[in-house]
Amino acid sequence: MKSESEIKDTDLNFYGSDPGAVKFGNFINYYSFHDVGERINNLRPQMFPAPVDKQLVCLDIGCNTGELSKALYMYLQTVYPDCDIQILAIDIDSTLIERATVSNEFPNIKFITCNIMDQNDRLCIQKYLDSHQHTAFDVTFCFSVTMWIHLNNGDEGLLEFLKLIKSFSKTIIIEPQPWKCYRNAQRRVKKSGHSFELYSCLKIKSDVDSIIEKTMSEDTHVKTYESENSSWNRRVLSFSSMKLSA
Ligand SMILES: C[S@@+](CC[C@H](N)C(=O)[O-])C[C@H]1O[C@@H](n2cnc3c(N)ncnc32)[C@H](O)[C@@H]1O
Repeated sequence: MKSESEIKDTDLNFYGSDPGAVKFGNFINYYSFHDVGERINNLRPQMFPAPVDKQLVCLDIGCNTGELSKALYMYLQTVYPDCDIQILAIDIDSTLIERATVSNEFPNIKFITCNIMDQNDRLCIQKYLDSHQHTAFDVTFCFSVTMWIHLNNGDEGLLEFLKLIKSFSKTIIIEPQPWKCYRNAQRRVKKSGHSFELYSCLKIKSDVDSIIEKTMSEDTHVKTYESENSSWNRRVLSFSSMKLSA
């Protein structure tokens, strides 16, 4: 996969005249359609680990313009009233990160452009952990990102991504997209004369939810919580490792 600096501007723009026809889920107007309040209402304190430290260090992968990251920060303050909460929020699209940064009123949230699938880009993640004297994130959020990783990196890429986040996260809160969303995404870009090249090669398809759940709960992590389906038919799952220490 190309590093963020190598990705062409055209890859990061939407196709044709439809702002919903995007390659990475980098919608410019995402939060006009996906109410952040409803997303937060789907969270439960039981999804989160008990505080072990005065500092809680979190990662939000695919933060878009940051509205959900900021709402997560405020929610975390209610779960961990005595903790210093720090969040690294990353997104592949530098324009979205710029918007998130300009409107950021929280010094405890750092927004950085980073393609999680690129080794060089990922150095910023290790650097952030080092700067907070942590070897792993206490909580990693991964909301509505797995499909985009999967469509652009194939089955192997999806599994590599899940193993990667397990390697540096004590707790992972994940909201995977079901297969139906993939068909809609492909239909949408096709209408604009493009296509997800790997779409037809994917072997993980209608079973994507169960494969994600199985991979997440293998070896190091166990499922600790699963929400009801949200109004837009997505579940939020929480997985925790007892092995990693902060
Ligand atoms: C559908 S949006 C979800 C935004 C937010 N997580 C939420 O649920 O409200 C998916 C985001 O993931 C980002 N993204 C996709 N592939 C990525 C990658 N390889 N590395 C980092 N961010 C990525 C997109 O740019 C987009 O902003």
